[in-house]
Amino acid sequence: MAIREILTVPDPVLKQVSTPVEGGVTDELRALMDDMLETMYDAPGIGLAAIQIGVPKRIIVMDLSHSEEKRAPKYFVNPEILETVEETTPYEEGCLSIPDVFDEVDRPVKCLIRYLDYDGNQVEEWAEGLYAVCIQHEMDHLEGTLFIDHLSRLKRQRAVEKVKKAKRLASKTKAA
Ligand code: NI
Repeated sequence: MAIREILTVPDPVLKQVSTPVEGGVTDELRALMDDMLETMYDAPGIGLAAIQIGVPKRIIVMDLSHSEEKRAPKYFVNPEILETVEETTPYEEGCLSIPDVFDEVDRPVKCLIRYLDYDGNQVEEWAEGLYAVCIQHEMDHLEGTLFIDHLSRLKRQRAVEKVKKAKRLASKTKAA
């Protein structure tokens, strides 16, 4: 397993639409998912899409356990949202590609999803609560959409400027 670099805004790769995985879940794909999970834990974060490490494939990893002792990783290959309920609720979201920026996004409170798991088995289940928020956020990544794209243009610009500025400061500190 290896920790990969997480791309941050305004990297144009993050705007790419990811393509479906063909040929099922292979060992090569599992190795990629292992790297994604390790990268996510290291960050630390609760979800990561492959495009965030520069791989434009429809793959997501997630762990909502909030516990280092009792990890509960989930893997999603070619996930689809089959159905959503009408009721929406705001949740304060963040993203590893937009460090230290948080804002509320309204999303459906429940959605029915279908995906292939780590072993290549097809799973169909309803996601609700934080699970519903996270899977919808991550699936947006597969379409090249970031949570700040759901905000006003001004908030979006501010968020990108904040990340750029933090990056400039970090590189200065490294150089000094
Ligand atoms: Ni994200």
